[in-house]
Amino acid sequence: MNTRFFVPRDTTALALGSDEVAVALGAELASRSLAGDVVRNGSRGAFWLEPLLEVEQAGQRLAFGPVAAADLPGVLDALQGVPGEHPLCLGPVDEIPWLASQQRLTFARAGQDDPLSLDAYRRQEGFRGLERALELGPQGIVDEVTASGLRGRGGAAFPAGIKWQTVLDTPAEQKYIVCNADEGDSGTFADRLLMEADPYQLIEGMIIAGLAVEATQGFIYLRSEYPAALGVLNAAIAGAEAAGYLGDDIGGSGRAFHLEVRVGAGAYICGEETSLLDSLEGKRGMVRTKPPLPAIRGLFGQPTVVNNVLTLAAVSTVLARGSQYYHDFGSGRSRGTLTVQLAGNIRRGGLVEIPFGATLRELLEDFGGGTFSGRPMRAIQVGGPLGAYLPEPQWDTPVDYEAFAAIGAMLGHGGVVVFDDTVDMGAQARFAMEFCAAESCGKCTPCRIGSTRGLEVIDRIIAREAPAQNRALLNDLCDTMESASLCAMGGLTPNPVRSALAHFAEDFG
Ligand SMILES: Cc1cc2nc3c(=O)[nH]c(=O)nc-3n(C[C@H](O)[C@H](O)[C@H](O)COP(=O)(O)O)c2cc1C
Ligand code: SF4
Repeated sequence: MNTRFFVPRDTTALALGSDEVAVALGAELASRSLAGDVVRNGSRGAFWLEPLLEVEQAGQRLAFGPVAAADLPGVLDALQGVPGEHPLCLGPVDEIPWLASQQRLTFARAGQDDPLSLDAYRRQEGFRGLERALELGPQGIVDEVTASGLRGRGGAAFPAGIKWQTVLDTPAEQKYIVCNADEGDSGTFADRLLMEADPYQLIEGMIIAGLAVEATQGFIYLRSEYPAALGVLNAAIAGAEAAGYLGDDIGGSGRAFHLEVRVGAGAYICGEETSLLDSLEGKRGMVRTKPPLPAIRGLFGQPTVVNNVLTLAAVSTVLARGSQYYHDFGSGRSRGTLTVQLAGNIRRGGLVEIPFGATLRELLEDFGGGTFSGRPMRAIQVGGPLGAYLPEPQWDTPVDYEAFAAIGAMLGHGGVVVFDDTVDMGAQARFAMEFCAAESCGKCTPCRIGSTRGLEVIDRIIAREAPAQNRALLNDLCDTMESASLCAMGGLTPNPVRSALAHFAEDFG
């Protein structure tokens, strides 16, 4: 069998030069008259090692990274002799400690093969969940999802099974499955990685959701900043249609499910599920009042499941392996695995999938390896731009939904952004209000006006103008935003502001 070379095609790897590596590799193989297949795989999410070149020969898959085109002659020479002696050789890819110490369920296939190969997907348990779903029928599927304890991975951690039950129980001619792939949180990329590295898993999860609630049409609402994901998704949908997994007769079952991708225009608020639905309907994305819930009156007024990419993807594992298997991972009410995205000033950035329950410090130190700058860490923001800033004493908090809520923080979509000791937390607090002012949909006053006034008050505090009165005013304003905003955009913006003031007071003049 030919030697197979794997060069990732994911956005991060591309940004780091993987296309140049792939082209140079082809040329180098040709110039040496060496046989070898160059496969463009998805990334494993070890971004600190990208471009990661993997070489499969004699039943072993060796990794080299990060590799530049100029390194290739040396790597190919080493393959003829003792590969392990090459300075970029990382050994067998499965034994790289950063990867081996993860527990990958959702990202088990990421980086293994060409993401558009249906054969590769089927070889790795692909569509097993769908086969089981077709046997179980709607209520059976919903029961499995409920029993797994799966909670939404988009931010609010709402139990997926309860949402699906509501849609199943709401009679309608037409129901919809909407996948929220807007992924607007700072430091997050798990949705993108999943869509680019394992698109069939998301498609399978959405078909299962359709079967569960009796919806025949699905939409993936994709952020416009993900053009590579768009290409992969459209190609994967076409592949799944051609193979009979999508269309009017899924796998010969007589059940129908159609799927389309719709691209957003780049507004953070369009990640909020009701503005997303407005945007999908072709309107300006404005938050809707709830009730009615989207599960009852969602897209075009019809019962709609809105779930995050990772929630829908996880469903294929739940169905393929059974709810108990999934439920056996995790801690407390946080079941399964959490996909943490290590970003910001971090030495080993990338995607870490582990069962809920490890501490934030373990993630930052064991996986992250400290800061990229080499300076001490000072503040960590978890859960996107509306998440609290956590000081060092809080880094021993276990990463599970309840433990984070207990310290006034949130896991959100699992984005972890690291700041070293050069960060100006006054500027970060200011940014939180500025972000809210820029991204507010404008429907309600506490958020639309409050964020602008908040920015002014923070500026006065930093400038030491009547600091005690202005702090009291800011506190009052944050109370109003929290209690009177229509959605979490205005309601949670006080989190980063208050945590910065509480834990990093020395940065405020
Ligand atoms: C301002 C704001 C932005 C949001 N952005 C996203 C997003 O980018 N992706 C996402 O999945 N959920 C986002 N959400 C959460 C969604 O409203 C919704 O809870 C989620 O899509 C439901 O899916 P899940 O239950 O699978 O998490 C956002 C919420 C708010 C308030
Ligand atoms: S809180 Fe902000 S984003 Fe949410 S509905 Fe009100 S104005 Fe719109």
